Amino acid sequence: MHKKGFIFDLDGVIVDTAKYHFLAWKKLARSIGVDFTEVQNEQLKGVSRVRSLEKILEWGNKTLSEDEFTKLMGMKNQDYLSYIDKMDDSEILPDVSQTLDYLINQEQAIALGSASKNATPILKKVNLFAKFEAIVDGNDVSKAKPDPEVFLIGAKLLGMNPEDCTVFEDSVAGIQAANTANMISIGIGEQSVLHEADYVFNDFTEMSSEFLEGIISGTINKK
Ligand code: BG6
Ligand code: MG
Repeated sequence: MHKKGFIFDLDGVIVDTAKYHFLAWKKLARSIGVDFTEVQNEQLKGVSRVRSLEKILEWGNKTLSEDEFTKLMGMKNQDYLSYIDKMDDSEILPDVSQTLDYLINQEQAIALGSASKNATPILKKVNLFAKFEAIVDGNDVSKAKPDPEVFLIGAKLLGMNPEDCTVFEDSVAGIQAANTANMISIGIGEQSVLHEADYVFNDFTEMSSEFLEGIISGTINKK
């Protein structure tokens, strides 16, 4: 039997939480007199909470004391969590559940590899928590993507060699992290943005079971 590891990013791959991050960052930016656009929000994909606030302050030419910085981070997360609290399984992105179930039926090893510190509550809200053998999130890593740490810990927890793992990612930094980890990188999103990925699909509806079977059997490999 062929057994491979499959590591899923969360935000933008399993659920479309980017819109909630946007609303929460926008409110916070406005409260300190900074303009924040959807284009800028794109640049925060896969970026940690601390780094996101640093970037917003850079864009707005603002400096804050350490205490103010910590307070704003807390406010942003409170606001974000108020959106998360209303989530349910209708917010799982198309064919994600089917892909997870297919891989589980094929007895593959499945992990989550996310920068978010809210990964566990989100997975519980959308009823997917039980499908993951291992969860690695923002609470477990010291180096953010594009560092491969998050995925290497995931592979280790699954008991798999990195070269036997595949990563699903929507951020450029995440694709780079998967490539550095020597894992098959699959971009979920636009080819023009995710061109460093080994394979790119707009979403999981475009990914056939033959493709996944090819990865499992080893006929589809890292490019
Ligand atoms: C990433 C998101 O998955 O997690 C980023 O793409 C977010 O937008 C980061 O900032 C950290 O998330 P959280 O939930 O810990 O604030
Ligand atoms: Mg993401």
